[in-house]
Amino acid sequence: MNVNINGKKVLITASSEGIGFGIAKKLAREGCRLVLTSRNKEKLNKAVESLKKYNPEVYGFPSDLSKPDSLDDLVSFALEKLGNDIDALIYNTGNPPSEPSTFAETTMEDWLYSVNLYLLSAIKLTKLLLPHMVRKRNGRLIYLSSWTVKQPQSIFVLADVSRSPLIQLVKIISKDYGQFNVTANVILMGSFETEGAKRSLRRLAEKLGISFDELWQKEVISRSPLKRTGDVEKELGSLITYLLSEFSSYITGSVIQIDGGTSDAI
Ligand SMILES: NC(=O)c1ccc[n+]([C@@H]2O[C@H](COP(=O)([O-])OP(=O)(O)OC[C@H]3O[C@@H](n4cnc5c(N)ncnc54)[C@H](OP(=O)(O)O)[C@@H]3O)[C@@H](O)[C@H]2O)c1
Repeated sequence: MNVNINGKKVLITASSEGIGFGIAKKLAREGCRLVLTSRNKEKLNKAVESLKKYNPEVYGFPSDLSKPDSLDDLVSFALEKLGNDIDALIYNTGNPPSEPSTFAETTMEDWLYSVNLYLLSAIKLTKLLLPHMVRKRNGRLIYLSSWTVKQPQSIFVLADVSRSPLIQLVKIISKDYGQFNVTANVILMGSFETEGAKRSLRRLAEKLGISFDELWQKEVISRSPLKRTGDVEKELGSLITYLLSEFSSYITGSVIQIDGGTSDAI
């Protein structure tokens, strides 16, 4: 099967590092025209520059997903750079500064940040992009989430509660916009070795008074029956490549798990 997504125009959020950057790299290699975004301009420029060798049409625009009202400028920039047209949104995020934390440790400020980051910015971008997708009778909305929304974890209460409604969102969008060939799906990710994942586990290890290595082994490696983390570019990036292609056109309103068997949920 020759999966060709060359020339697809994709907006991918939270993409200067980690999972978002790994996916952007895979898509740049597949010939996609990309707009990347994250808060830190220097990191973003570095990421964009490093991808230009795969495709010169990779652009960056700084934005903060914890401020949904600020995202109009991001979409205007993306439309301008990509020829007034966007084929796909890949919605990825960072994490609230206070994560990981238990419910008792969270403040209302943490909740406000989390709901903006994990949910309202996804809704805002969806609202901004849908009219363009409807106009061209084609579009792909892909929201990245975590296996933990199906098997909630105390320490990820902010993420699990704030981003689980994306599942309901894609179901409703799939019903309302299928007639326009716009598909919407959520991906539940397992563990990928990124700076963000290690930072989060390091903070937790300190709280628990155990070593990072012990916690990484227990909470990440041992939890998966495959006894390893996933490969962002090869495994997750290939799934997303398929979802962006013509071959995935019958998949919508779905929750797709790529977690190395970590979740116990069916
Ligand atoms: N890694 C895993 O194992 C794993 C598993 C399941 C789910 N996830 C989820 O996947 C997402 C990405 O994880 P990761 O491990 O790749 O994280 P990461 O290594 O910390 O990378 C996060 C990226 O998001 C950007 N970012 C952070 N906050 C942002 C904000 N408010 N607005 C815009 N951009 C922002 C960062 O750049 P700036 O700091 O410059 O903004 C960076 O480019 C997270 O939501 C995480 O919960 C990760």
